[in-house]
Amino acid sequence: MAKSVTVNTLKKYKQQNEKFSVLTAYDCYTAKYIEQAGVDVVLIGDSLAMVALGYKTTNEIGVDEMAVFTGAVSRGVSRAMVVTDMPFLSYHSSVDEAVKNCGRMIKCGANAVKIEGGGDYIVSVVERLTQVGIPVMSHLGFTPQFLNVLGGYRIQGKTQEAAEKILEQAKRLQDAGAFSLVLEMVPEDCAKYITENLEIPTISCGAGRYCDAQVLVSDDVFGKFPEFKPKFARKYGDMQSLIFECAKKFNEDVKSGNFPSDDEIFH
Ligand code: KIV
Repeated sequence: MAKSVTVNTLKKYKQQNEKFSVLTAYDCYTAKYIEQAGVDVVLIGDSLAMVALGYKTTNEIGVDEMAVFTGAVSRGVSRAMVVTDMPFLSYHSSVDEAVKNCGRMIKCGANAVKIEGGGDYIVSVVERLTQVGIPVMSHLGFTPQFLNVLGGYRIQGKTQEAAEKILEQAKRLQDAGAFSLVLEMVPEDCAKYITENLEIPTISCGAGRYCDAQVLVSDDVFGKFPEFKPKFARKYGDMQSLIFECAKKFNEDVKSGNFPSDDEIFH
């Protein structure tokens, strides 16, 4: 479905120096409420693997699962842009395989895909996806799918040389057609330097205040995922307690005979 937030909208936000917001969602009604709150881009992050499906890392989720959740989120959204994070190894074995798997997400309702990395091969994937009509949000800095190569959750781009390397990759991705770039866990100065030197909008995920947009995992924002809270995430609610309290009251009401009441039965 054509949405009112498109790649052009995001480009315009950057030109007008206007910030935009990105939040993850994994189901239809969470996506709907996030959109109603004014969020511009809804991302079906592969964080879904950990926060909703209970896997230990994001690398464990596959294309079939991402397709199901992409469909659910897309059905809840009418204005925001829907972006699907392509899972580990779904775009790595060949450009044709990447087109097939990314194209599947578009058929499920996504407006764009997100892919990690900026080496020669990934640049060629971005180029082909863009050529066939699949917009790409790139992702540099800490790239969770490279967790084992990077040796853990480590801040990237800490030296001038490392920042230059990220900028060089970012420019190649931009030239290949990427419409935006997530920068994850890099120092604020590094993200500022990259943002000032790109035409496409940058989206901070723990990359400070000077990016064109901010993204967070919604379960961190809602206070629903208890395993860990990244330093850069802000918790705005306590859904863990809310769910616990509702379930506790229901359990008590069933056992005391207080549920169902006369209003809640058929006569
Ligand atoms: O998986 C995810 O949710 C992400 C964002 C936080 C950028 O990649």
